Amino acid sequence: MKVLEETGHARVVAVVTAAGSGQRLGYGVPKALVPLGESGRIGDDSSLLCTAVRNTAAVHGVQAIVVTAPAADVKLFTELVALLGLQVPCAVVAGGVSRQSSVYAGLQHLKDAQHDADVVLVHDAARALTPTSLMDRVVAAVAHGSAAVIPALEVADTIKLVEDVADAANTSVQRVTGAADRSVMRIVQTPQGFAWDVLWQAHTRFADRSNDEATAATDDSTLAQWAGVEVDAVPGDALALKVTTATDLALARTLFQQEKDAPSSDHTPHSQGVDVNSSMPLVGIGSDVHAFVVGQSEREMWLGGVHFPGEQPLDGHSDADVIAHAAADALFSAAGLGDLGSNFGTSEPQWAGAAGSVLLAEAARRVREAGFDIGNVAVQVIGNKPKVGPQRALMQERMSAAAGAVVRISATTTDALGFAGRGEGLAAIATALVAPRAQ
Ligand code: CTP
Ligand code: MG
Repeated sequence: MKVLEETGHARVVAVVTAAGSGQRLGYGVPKALVPLGESGRIGDDSSLLCTAVRNTAAVHGVQAIVVTAPAADVKLFTELVALLGLQVPCAVVAGGVSRQSSVYAGLQHLKDAQHDADVVLVHDAARALTPTSLMDRVVAAVAHGSAAVIPALEVADTIKLVEDVADAANTSVQRVTGAADRSVMRIVQTPQGFAWDVLWQAHTRFADRSNDEATAATDDSTLAQWAGVEVDAVPGDALALKVTTATDLALARTLFQQEKDAPSSDHTPHSQGVDVNSSMPLVGIGSDVHAFVVGQSEREMWLGGVHFPGEQPLDGHSDADVIAHAAADALFSAAGLGDLGSNFGTSEPQWAGAAGSVLLAEAARRVREAGFDIGNVAVQVIGNKPKVGPQRALMQERMSAAAGAVVRISATTTDALGFAGRGEGLAAIATALVAPRAQ
């Protein structure tokens, strides 16, 4: 998908499925209304429904959410969602008899409302604790070109195949009939992300299977696979556990409380153990260097979110946009959130190929999530080419849009000294100013 690479933003819509009855949980109310918090009040703002919707509404680029509710509870769910006071429009529609039919109802609503989306997320309210960072990761993978993306966790337990067989006395026993190689198996979570057309076509094509639990797909990637679409996996998150049984609920409640107590979730600025004086702004510094490609290459030169056709490209796993990378690095530095590598490095490999503007947007989101407002970012490019001047305004516009704050760009050469002077590579150095948000 080119859209995100060019603009740094994907238009995202989300279906949050909450139409199930929660029979296995046995709470006596629709599962989505079960509270995670201490109040114990059905449908309060700690409910699976409200928690999942709130986390989904924080996804970068999300433009609309539709919740599927049990048909009898559409009005109640609508009122509960309205109480959240979200910026993002959030509709509630009646679900169907199977999860598949519920998702289809949600998609139909989005289609009728003519949301012009690039990416659609489908998320289970039953996985209410799923952090927004996982959702953003799924969106980033779709925006970067995957047609279908699932979050997946490695399997810790030994896996066996077990079947009902008759023993010598003709009594039915459960017998181990085989083993599975757990190293290639994954536990699949939500949200699952899709290019809009891919999911819409898959659901439309297999809608006839959706009214029977036995034939309906239990997740959306299965539909995509039935339609011949390749599905990619990104690392899941233990917090995206599914509340199915009473044991799951007990665990989810403990985790919910921990999240509430954790400094990272209460939107007070936290700078890795240092007591931040709440009245003082904080500066940060960042830098990035990439070597020019030697010889022929398919790569293209991207700088400050702008494409420079015909210019000698920079090498790297990412788009090697040194301006965007230095800006993101400086933001992390100012907020005390580490650096570019510790945020988007090997622990989060899904960002490896992301466009610079996407990384900058995500860095800015994390800085704001940690409780800071962003003042401005200044970036200086050090090198001989490409010429920055003619594209400065466009680069500033794109970088500012990604950061949600003013980004200024300047350039200098090094009097032919050093690697930059010899034309071996390009460097950028950046400063950022952030301020702890007033409480
Ligand atoms: N779901 C839905 N429509 C259905 C069935 C399920 O929207 N007809 C949603 C659920 O609300 C849940 C998700 O799909 O968020 C996963 O389903 P599951 O965990 O099985 O929830 P329930 O169906 O509610 O639980 P149970 O199967 O125990 O009744
Ligand atoms: Mg179910």
